[in-house]
Amino acid sequence: MDATSRIERALAAAVARAQGTDSGRGGPPRLAEALHYAVFPRGARIRPRLCLAVAMACGEDDPGLTDAAAASIELLHCASLVHDDLPCFDDADIRRGKPSVHKAFGEQIAVLAGDALIVLAFQTLAWAAAGAPQRLGILVDTVGRSVGMPRGITAGQAWECETEIDLAEYQQEKTGALFAAAAVAGAAAAGAVAEPWRLLGERLGAAYQVADDIRDVACAVEEIGKPVGQDQAHARPSAVARHGLDGAMRLLKELAEGAVASIPDCPGAVELRAHILSESQRLLPKQLAQRAA
Ligand code: IPE
Ligand code: IPE
Ligand code: MG
Ligand code: MG
Repeated sequence: MDATSRIERALAAAVARAQGTDSGRGGPPRLAEALHYAVFPRGARIRPRLCLAVAMACGEDDPGLTDAAAASIELLHCASLVHDDLPCFDDADIRRGKPSVHKAFGEQIAVLAGDALIVLAFQTLAWAAAGAPQRLGILVDTVGRSVGMPRGITAGQAWECETEIDLAEYQQEKTGALFAAAAVAGAAAAGAVAEPWRLLGERLGAAYQVADDIRDVACAVEEIGKPVGQDQAHARPSAVARHGLDGAMRLLKELAEGAVASIPDCPGAVELRAHILSESQRLLPKQLAQRAA
């Protein structure tokens, strides 16, 4: 089965379990519907694909656990988007080309949907760990670290409430941390030594956020399926505001090259290198990629 099918299948199973459809005892229908709405149809799924690619490069021996790790990372990402779009954060009306969760279901359901997806992410790991319980601790810690305090998404988003923000730290926490978790969790799910994989995830995540900052000024709403011009409108620190568009493009290139260079020795290094290269080549919007070439 290809990576995309594995990821979609694992996510569908997790969401169905949270909805209660598998047990025949459904939860509150609007929240149940919002959980599915927040996860499907898919976005880029770049984080779970990274998780799977690293696990395979490490010679995965427990595909069910890899799939659960990948799904848990994506569930946390989807939760972060639901909360990030709320009026008290970025107040974004559209996400993935459709009304954001609070626009479609109201703010109360959106807060609860984000909460429920976060809990589901950790349950998903627990459900899959029966065959390798000794790997569960590191997986839970890795994933928890990437979304909690002091260096996860929660911390990254909280810098927006401070007057002094360090751009690199802000971006590392709000975006890099979950990419780092994707890489580390991929290795941990495969039973490999996991920590050496952090740098790859951090660099790819940093590149991804710089690319997102570029898309925010250089793309149209229809191209990216979410509002544009948000960073300036909310006075958010961004790579474009700091370095200008050309400077941000240079930084993106450096970070992407750094990501490729930081792949640790592993049985599947050649395939993984090709995967990371192809991911990084897709980060820039087409018209800018042509200009840069
Ligand atoms: C959006 O992430 C938030 C950022 C960290 C830039 P994605 O661009 O991966 O969003 P989806 O999952 O494809 O919608
Ligand atoms: C990305 O924040 C990180 C999180 C959602 C936690 P942004 O606010 O830059 O992402 P978009 O542009 O809304 O996707
Ligand atoms: Mg935001
Ligand atoms: Mg936002």
